[in-house]
Amino acid sequence: MPMGKENVRVLIPQEELERRIGELADEINRDYSGMEANEALLCVGVLKGSVFLMVDLLKRLTIPVQVDFYQTSSYGSGMTAGEVRLRKDVDLSVRGKDVLLIEDIVDTGHTVRTVLGLLRFRGARSVRLCSLLDKVERREVEVPIDYRGFEIENLFVVGYGLDFDERYRNLPFIGVLETEPDPPSPS
Ligand code: PRP
Repeated sequence: MPMGKENVRVLIPQEELERRIGELADEINRDYSGMEANEALLCVGVLKGSVFLMVDLLKRLTIPVQVDFYQTSSYGSGMTAGEVRLRKDVDLSVRGKDVLLIEDIVDTGHTVRTVLGLLRFRGARSVRLCSLLDKVERREVEVPIDYRGFEIENLFVVGYGLDFDERYRNLPFIGVLETEPDPPSPS
């Protein structure tokens, strides 16, 4: 846990995020272009980190969409490693729908694996995953990422939805949180 002065180094600048999100949107528009007029792609974000990507990505989609959210928790009293609890369920029915799960980051993979399993169990017609970041080195369970923004190293990243202690989510870029040590106290 950082104790000294926190410093954020830019890892992925805003322009690069915008360019890549544009490419992902083009791919998604292309892949779902055959949808019937009375259907919609159900875009499900996992709160809170995915909100920034949801907004920027969905504004670029030209296919009909619906929006909903899950919220999960992967730590808390009595929970074991890899356990993921649902804190907020989706409001809409997923039965028979084409669903796009949207994440800011896939780290160990436990969150996404749990939510993907739930969506399938509830009868989604198809489920695909879009994640802005993929911290592949940290993966503990296999999850297929259909639309992946960037693969990143095992760094503590913040910004564009990602937080440290609930701060930094609103940075318009992805940054690495670095800590300068406290100066030695005068003797
Ligand atoms: C983060 C992130 C993913 C999850 C990835 O959410 O947004 O949902 O962790 O981790 P995993 O692959 O190891 O499961 P977090 O639980 O920190 O909540 P937040 O989005 O509200 O910050």
